[in-house]
Amino acid sequence: MTITPDFRFRRLRRTSTLRELVRENQLRASDFILPLFIEEDITATVDIPSMPGVVRYPESQLEEVVLRAYGKGIRAILLFGVSTHKDDVGSDTWSDQGLMARCIKTAKSACPDMLVISDNCFCEYTEHGHCGVLCEGSHEGLDVDNDLTLANLQKQAVVAAQAGVDMIAPSTMIDGMVAAIREGLDSAGFQHIPIMSYSTKFASAFYGPFRDAVDSTFKGTRSTYQMDPANGREALAESMQDELEGADILMVKPGLAYLDVIANIRQHSQRPLAVYHVSGEYAMIKAAAAANVIDEQAIVLETMMAFRRAGCDLIITYYAEQLAEWLSAS
Ligand code: PBG
Repeated sequence: MTITPDFRFRRLRRTSTLRELVRENQLRASDFILPLFIEEDITATVDIPSMPGVVRYPESQLEEVVLRAYGKGIRAILLFGVSTHKDDVGSDTWSDQGLMARCIKTAKSACPDMLVISDNCFCEYTEHGHCGVLCEGSHEGLDVDNDLTLANLQKQAVVAAQAGVDMIAPSTMIDGMVAAIREGLDSAGFQHIPIMSYSTKFASAFYGPFRDAVDSTFKGTRSTYQMDPANGREALAESMQDELEGADILMVKPGLAYLDVIANIRQHSQRPLAVYHVSGEYAMIKAAAAANVIDEQAIVLETMMAFRRAGCDLIITYYAEQLAEWLSAS
């Protein structure tokens, strides 16, 4: 590259038209995925104190919520069930009458054009709150049994597909989860259903408010299955492994503290890449906005642009509906 010593970058920054002309990244409502919390046995919405603006919806309001989001330009939702039918293994998730299956059916029939993604995990359906079947741990008490959990995940994914889900999003961080789900789906005739894997998911303190959101009584650690935030090489290996197992879309979670991981995966994979802007990231912006120390809209747009710049195609965020409104107004 030849360097012109007196080059003036400011020539292309002089007017908003010029700046727009050379802008490298854009945001569209269709890039966002809206997470929704649906709770069993409630009749009105329940506020989540740490996440102002986010609520748990009763099943009876799911149809209306999906239509509202679609009306704002949102084209994909990620469903989380908050179950009252918990047991040791999360068996409600593989019942065709269970909460997960019911939510999928309701959302799809409300709005067939909305892409419905299920969060495929067990933690909101187990009494102990872990993301799978428990076994004796070697050093720190109870642990999650990898292969027993895989078998249950397979059953869960097939039931979700039978209920009409458009995409499976396994978030358990169990080894082999993508291969197991792919095999389960294929042998049940669902070769066409894609998997968006939570491929690089860290054991993060940024999930704190999510625990409020799903009303989890979980007190332990997920560090024997989720990743150590210190590890960058392993972060890449986790996603590359899921790609090898057949993941259609990869994901990094959380977002802002892991932009280096996003950029690294982007360089090594041709798959679409998603990021999960998680509950703690949302809560921190909301708290700072409520304290009047930041401009909420500007901060959120800048954060989302950082994800695009780092290499993400899709952004899962509790701000999705609000973003769609801001973008259509601008
Ligand atoms: C469950 C799950 C979690 C989140 C999404 N799926 C919590 C966890 O792993 O502890 C976090 C979402 C958020 O914080 O917004 N496996």
